[in-house]
Amino acid sequence: MLKTKEILDEKDRRLRTISKEVEFPLSKEDRDLINTMIEYLHDSQIEELAEKYDLRPGMGMSAIQLGVPKRYFVVVNEITEEDDKEQKFETYVLINPKIISNSMEKIYVDEGEGCLSVNRPVEGIVPRYARVTMEAYDMDGKKIHIRGREEIAICFQHELDHLNGILFVDHIDPKNPFKGKDQMRGI
Ligand code: NI
Repeated sequence: MLKTKEILDEKDRRLRTISKEVEFPLSKEDRDLINTMIEYLHDSQIEELAEKYDLRPGMGMSAIQLGVPKRYFVVVNEITEEDDKEQKFETYVLINPKIISNSMEKIYVDEGEGCLSVNRPVEGIVPRYARVTMEAYDMDGKKIHIRGREEIAICFQHELDHLNGILFVDHIDPKNPFKGKDQMRGI
């Protein structure tokens, strides 16, 4: 089981690596790592597990955050509805992902973006496309197209940045953290 302290902190230069494309078939190590990432994100969003195992809640993680410079990331999104008895999640695994189309409209997270590698509060606007279509490969090496909107779109862009050595804080102008707020929609 992955421990929170194993996730690289923003000061770690390895997070600045441009990760390399993955070749198929996927190695056992990569498969295992992907499953470990899914498990962490899933459990981290369940309060009692997060508390018990000291997990920091997160919905996205890239391999490089565990020091593995390969182009894949995982997103675990809660989709629990009111009459569900237990929490439900949807999982995305994107290998060698790229954005093949995006909306003109831009959005940002009102309360500020977060990252499992950034352990401090950061204020400011990170402009993101409201909708993106990603092309990627799944764990079996099959090409997939996934459309993401709103929070999922932001998450895809945030994780894709990780694969290029970029952190969300890099997008924030320290002198004017709320620059462009009027031209975008907060979510
Ligand atoms: Ni992150």
